[in-house]
Amino acid sequence: MDFKLGILLAFGTMAFLVCSEAPFVKMTNVVCESYNKSWIAVHYCRLKAYSRNKTSSNINLTLSEPTSNVFVHVKLMKKYNGYKPFLVDVTLDGCQFMRKRNNPTVKIIWNLIKDVSTLNHTCPYRGLQMLSDFHRIEVPVPLPTGDYLLMLNFLFFGKKQFGTKVYFTFVEDL
Ligand SMILES: *[C@@H]1O[C@H](CO)[C@@H](O)[C@H](O)[C@H]1NC(C)=O
Ligand SMILES: *[C@@H]1O[C@H](CO)[C@@H](O)[C@H](O)[C@H]1NC(C)=O
Ligand SMILES: *[C@@H]1O[C@H](CO)[C@@H](O)[C@H](O)[C@H]1NC(C)=O
Ligand SMILES: *[C@@H]1O[C@H](CO)[C@@H](O)[C@H](O)[C@H]1NC(C)=O
Repeated sequence: MDFKLGILLAFGTMAFLVCSEAPFVKMTNVVCESYNKSWIAVHYCRLKAYSRNKTSSNINLTLSEPTSNVFVHVKLMKKYNGYKPFLVDVTLDGCQFMRKRNNPTVKIIWNLIKDVSTLNHTCPYRGLQMLSDFHRIEVPVPLPTGDYLLMLNFLFFGKKQFGTKVYFTFVEDL
């Protein structure tokens, strides 16, 4: 067999297996909160339902003043009896991350949203910020089946200004 074709077939088969055993992820709620409404006005923060098991999240907000100091606290919670911290709890310098992409965990989240947000540039951030029709969720790490909550809190100049919570259900090997 032609070597290249062999590779192609092997790769195709692998891709098929990966796709057909893709875990099931569905966002079930998204909540946004501005802790400083004179700086951050949230216009829109909602899920859109495509079907019973497919949703997209949409966020639209305006920063009334530019900011060049952004820290992001990323925390993942898993539901047992109530939500308990799970695996990810990291705070990083968002402006530095946008220059260096220097945190592998946050990079996973960044890779999911980079194409559908207005955030793909270095600091400062100003004006309208959007996450539009975000639905392509591929989690490249194994997670146990369950209900999760991803919390992102944004600090400008050391003070919490904005938070978003994304609730999702994850089912292994559907
Ligand atoms: C709230 O936002 C204003 C800018 O609109 C800023 O000057 C002020 O420092 C912020 N307050 C806090 C507690 O960060
Ligand atoms: C963002 O929300 C505001 C207020 O609802 C709206 O006027 C504006 O059109 C929205 N922008 C986009 C690009 O969706
Ligand atoms: C996803 O939706 C389809 C059609 O609406 C349904 O047949 C299927 O069972 C659903 N899957 C899950 C995991 O809910
Ligand atoms: C993000 O910005 C960089 C630099 O401007 C650009 O090369 C890259 O293609 C952008 N990526 C996306 C997903 O827009």
